[in-house]
Order: sequence, then structure tokens, then C-alpha cells
Amino acid sequence: MSTPLILDLPAGEHEICLCGRSKQEPYCDGSHQGSRSTPRKVVLQAAARVAICTCRKTASAPYCDGSHE
Ligand code: FES
Repeated sequence: MSTPLILDLPAGEHEICLCGRSKQEPYCDGSHQGSRSTPRKVVLQAAARVAICTCRKTASAPYCDGSHE
């Protein structure tokens, strides 16, 4: 069973990988080029702790919605 990745992100824009190819997961490194996947942009107005989905079953990508259970 996959569990979410808990990250403390600073304010600003972050691109989260949804394709599973990135070597810098959970961040997009451009490895999705040539696939149908694109990263999900997360914009935070303030620093926040977030739960990033790692099972790829979530309906709220890139955030965990508990679907891994
Ligand atoms: S490398 Fe996975 S979405 Fe960009």
C-alpha cells in the first residue's frame, strides 16, 4: 500500500510530477516530454504542509484523497 508523501513546501509555484518518470519526484524534471502526462502546478500563497499522492489513485491530484486505503 502506498502512503502519501508529506512535504513542507514554501510559498510559491511548484510543479508536481504525475507521470511517474521524474527522477526528482515528487517534482517534475521534464521527463514527461513525449508522453500524454503533464505536471500539476501547485501555487501556495504561504508555506504549507501538503500530502502528495504516491499511489496515483487520487481524484484530487497531486494531493492525497485517501484512495490508497
Ligand atoms: S516528469 Fe512527470 S510530469 Fe513532468
